[in-house]
Amino acid sequence: MLPQLNGKSYPKEVCLNGIWQKPEEAKISVFDRGFMLGDSLYEVIPFYDGKVFALKEHLSRLKYCLQEISLDFDVEMLIPYIEDSVRRSDNAGKDAAVYLQVSRGAAPRSHFFPERSEPIFLLYSFPVNLSGFENKHWKLLISEDIRWHRCDIKTTSYLANTMLNDKSYKLGLNETLLVKEGMITEGSHSTAFFVKDKIIFTHPEGHQILSGITRKIVLDLCQNLGLEIREEAFPFSEIENADEVFLTGTTTQIMAISEIQFQDNILFQAVESGPITRKLQEAFIQKTRNP
Ligand code: PDD
Repeated sequence: MLPQLNGKSYPKEVCLNGIWQKPEEAKISVFDRGFMLGDSLYEVIPFYDGKVFALKEHLSRLKYCLQEISLDFDVEMLIPYIEDSVRRSDNAGKDAAVYLQVSRGAAPRSHFFPERSEPIFLLYSFPVNLSGFENKHWKLLISEDIRWHRCDIKTTSYLANTMLNDKSYKLGLNETLLVKEGMITEGSHSTAFFVKDKIIFTHPEGHQILSGITRKIVLDLCQNLGLEIREEAFPFSEIENADEVFLTGTTTQIMAISEIQFQDNILFQAVESGPITRKLQEAFIQKTRNP
């Protein structure tokens, strides 16, 4: 059994290319392009009370990303493995998530995509507490968005994201909010929303952000609740004037923000979650727990 680290444990089993095995026995080639070049994609899929949520949306994003990197892989064949990964774990019937990765596979190292390679897939489930998020608040740090120009591709090449996230972690904060050319793009692993004068703002889809599945769910909820939403980037200079800020993501769900720091200044502070954030959180709980 592999040891825990930072309060996180390894799964008891992983599925590598359809074979369930102990993680310490699962092996990939040192020439795997995911390992060598970051030539691989991933998804994190939530399970509420043991039931998968938004599977179709996660798989269609994976399909889009596969197309963008010219990798031929049948996404549909993953479905039984995804379902199985929770069923056969200690997480059955509980809140959990599945980590899923598809790599182009092994080939002699080259900068161009090899003519032939056997893609490999890895997946496993892990426990995650998806209840009570509506009672939590996160504190954020602002940093320059140093990532590449295709943030819509959910690649495992998350070095920039982890460098950025580590900055807030080291300060005891929860997430890093990214700014590019004076505008907020998103978080290092989450989508950002701002509320000003009852209007909700979030960065438009495109190459600068990941098309978050939770983002899309929140956009739909806004429409159902009659809330005004604009897919427009929010300026860094306006953060001081924001009424509410929240982040979204598969495991983040809808997280209220209580503080935003930039260098040594506090740009935004809120003692409690705002009314729009709370309304969306309630609707989100309804949707995820009673789909
Ligand atoms: N992160 N933006 C970035 C850069 C992300 O990495 C994520 C998700 C999101 C939110 O997307 P979604 O709502 O589809 O989860 C936005 C995942 C969960 C992770 O890295 O673990």
